[in-house]
Amino acid sequence: MPSKILVTGGLGYIGSHTCVELIQQGFEIIIVDDLSNSSKNVLDGIKKITGISPKFVKLDLRDRKEVNLLFQYHPDLTGIIHFAAYKAVGESVKQPLEYYENNISSLIYLLQAIESKGQRCSFIFSSSCTVYGQADQLPITEQDPVKKAESPYGNTKQIGEEILYDNTRSNDLLKVISLRYFNPIGAHSSIEIGELSKGKPQNLVPFITQTAAGIHQKINVFGGDYPTDDGTCVRDYIHVVDLAKAHVVGLKRMIADEQSENFEVFNLGTGKGNSVLEVIKTFEKISGISLNHEIVDRRSGDIVEAYADTSKANEILGWQAINNLEMALKTAWEWEKKIRNK
Ligand code: UD1
Repeated sequence: MPSKILVTGGLGYIGSHTCVELIQQGFEIIIVDDLSNSSKNVLDGIKKITGISPKFVKLDLRDRKEVNLLFQYHPDLTGIIHFAAYKAVGESVKQPLEYYENNISSLIYLLQAIESKGQRCSFIFSSSCTVYGQADQLPITEQDPVKKAESPYGNTKQIGEEILYDNTRSNDLLKVISLRYFNPIGAHSSIEIGELSKGKPQNLVPFITQTAAGIHQKINVFGGDYPTDDGTCVRDYIHVVDLAKAHVVGLKRMIADEQSENFEVFNLGTGKGNSVLEVIKTFEKISGISLNHEIVDRRSGDIVEAYADTSKANEILGWQAINNLEMALKTAWEWEKKIRNK
């Protein structure tokens, strides 16, 4: 019998790519999504790539009764990968209560449902490098301190990790791996799934591809006077499929009882930093399109530089990112062209 895995937010950007990897590794998956920032069409993309139509349940995890019912229907879950959460930093500053309610209550209801089953469960949490803030040293290791969150969104990731850590201490049936993502970009190489931005994207790469597609006139580069080589901020851009694969590896580690502690944290990045201007130039090179861009004021809350020390994930999970920036940007561009031509 294949292990049965619940994937919350499984129709979202990182969730859908992870569903593909799980299916390809022989897991049976159940996708739960409230479709607030995703589309049911993503199921078709997953089916085209894998040949399998995963089970899908439309559900809002803030509904505790529905969450409990879900667990009654599926008493044999081996693991949960919890992607479902709001993720827009700026929006979280304007609507903190919605972010705390959605991101925290969904986690608590899932954990309560797990606890009431009294059955062993492996849990992967979508965390973010945002928990480090501006780190004192680079590259960032998992030992670096978690800094005061810059936004309610970031705080929900920190609180989420604390809730999970506390629960692994009170409940030895629960195993947790928290994955701290750096900057996920790109689309599946089949171009059947990718990032679907509702509204104007806030993140750099979707803004670049939309500008190349003629949707925006120019890219605002937020700040040109940072203490970096070219004055623009540096991030660690990781291809979403590399990121997705790490979830499967983490899950297998927990299922095989290989953890050194019941709560573990891993950075997921490439280990390489690229500036905003480097990303723009690389995109111009791979697409042959020249991008209109202008240096404007800094965006408040931005950190100067962040890239991962990935040695813990390399050594312990045996995982590393394979794809480079060019490949990731190529898939992002192919995906943008595909969704525009529909
Ligand atoms: C952002 C979030 C982070 C979240 C991550 C998820 C903020 C402050 N941080 O990270 O918490 O986990 O997304 O993907 O929002 N840039 C431009 N012009 C643009 C857009 C971005 O110059 O139009 C620059 C930014 O200033 C930054 C870099 O591009 O230096 C990357 O920005 P973005 O893609 O938004 O990611 P982060 O800010 O790193």
